[in-house]
Amino acid sequence: MTVQYPSTSPVQPHATSTPPSGAPRPRLTFLGCGYLGSTYAACFAELGYEVLGMDVDAERVAKLAAGQNPIHEPGLDELLKHNLASGRLRFTTSYAEAAEFGDVHFICVGTPQRPDGMAADLSYIESSVTGLAAHLTRPALIVGKSTVPVGTANWVEELACKHAPDGVDVQVAWSPEFLREGFACEDVLRPDRIVFGVKSDWARQLLYAAHKALFELAATEDREVPVVVTDFATAELVKVAANAFLATKISFINAMAEVCEAAGADVTLLAKSIGYDSRIGNKFLRAGIGFGGGCLPKDIRAFQARAQEIGAGEALRFLHEVDLVNQRRRNRVLQMAAELLNRPIGPAGPDFSGTKIAVLGAAFKPNTDDVRDSPGLAVAKALAKTSAEIVIYDPEAAEKARQELPDVAYATSLTEAVDGADLTCVVTAWDEFRRADPHAVGELAKARRIIDGMNCLDHAAWIAAGWDYRGMGRPIL
Ligand code: UGA
Repeated sequence: MTVQYPSTSPVQPHATSTPPSGAPRPRLTFLGCGYLGSTYAACFAELGYEVLGMDVDAERVAKLAAGQNPIHEPGLDELLKHNLASGRLRFTTSYAEAAEFGDVHFICVGTPQRPDGMAADLSYIESSVTGLAAHLTRPALIVGKSTVPVGTANWVEELACKHAPDGVDVQVAWSPEFLREGFACEDVLRPDRIVFGVKSDWARQLLYAAHKALFELAATEDREVPVVVTDFATAELVKVAANAFLATKISFINAMAEVCEAAGADVTLLAKSIGYDSRIGNKFLRAGIGFGGGCLPKDIRAFQARAQEIGAGEALRFLHEVDLVNQRRRNRVLQMAAELLNRPIGPAGPDFSGTKIAVLGAAFKPNTDDVRDSPGLAVAKALAKTSAEIVIYDPEAAEKARQELPDVAYATSLTEAVDGADLTCVVTAWDEFRRADPHAVGELAKARRIIDGMNCLDHAAWIAAGWDYRGMGRPIL
């Protein structure tokens, strides 16, 4: 493994092949135009590349081609519209067109958890690689970006070589993405590092060329983007290891929250105090109702499943505990609600009938409309089983939440949700909730009882306004 700081490396031909057309600025395709692919496609077009986004979902492609972005991601709408208008960005459903257009093909399809276990479902990777390879007519580099089990890149290489026409030089590289929802455009345009998992110098040089504009942007802003060049297996593992570390950090502080609750201590002050130690750091130490989303939960499970397969299962046994702590935090909200509403928890769970509960939030985190494995929505589902009247308000995610949890009411504003509520639960840390005036909200609610599932409210202000406040891992004041 070597760490390099590239600047102007030109594309060098591989010893056995001619350089792809378009060098030194290769043409790029992004296969799979979901969250990842649509963001990358728009950002790389913004950087000046000619880009083609390809997806088998004709409806999605038609929307993207018309400038309609199906996901809520700050800044993405503008990038999409601007680059469609410039002509640098197009979308298609055709593998043949993608193969004809691109020099570098980024695989951005989903790798969800398989319904029959913890492992990742690689069927979308398989269909995109075979679909593309069969149509290639000239040298091409296929670059995996999706999060995958270690060993996938070698398999993709075999697939691509098997399905590419005879005489066409197709190579594979792996370059995992690290973007966070809500900051996705920023993370693509200004990454804190890039990993190139490659087997040949040709692939490495072509990857540099495909990122040259990104390095140039960094240089104009007086930044450097470190590039770590690795083998395939390391590049694949970097991604899951990073997500496993982040998940572990969150579950660590949530485990401390459990201890704090038992000891009458305050986990927010504990986190603040340990976070000042630069070896620990203060990021990802917010205790709450646990981590969710389309990545961390499924990635730690797929990582365990793969480690088991390759004989390293023992090494990741702690991730099972990380998952358990995470699930327990969601249940804790139900216990707190029972305490606040003064209802017993019977063998069939709590009975909150006759009460109205306002649930503020549904997205798995703020600034997104994504509800995949959302802790907040899981809490709302559990509360919905108590016979309480549930009213959810989320500024962006109501539509997606309704598909997952149709049998509750959805308000169109915070005030509508809390009107007449016996209990209010904050389950997503939207700014709108952080800024809410506890006096004004108190005027609307039937009772001033609040569970701050994200520890995001100014608890002193809410208590001063007469609210019975419960935070996660915090003493009852
Ligand atoms: C995560 C990683 O942060 C990205 O680096 C990675 O690229 C991405 O997964 C991916 O694999 O594609 P994301 O799922 O967008 O990004 O969300 P995060 O910001 O990591 O938050 C994940 C969850 O952890 C959220 O539910 C959030 O509320 C929770 N969290 C985060 C906490 O409970 N406490 C914290 O201190 C931080």
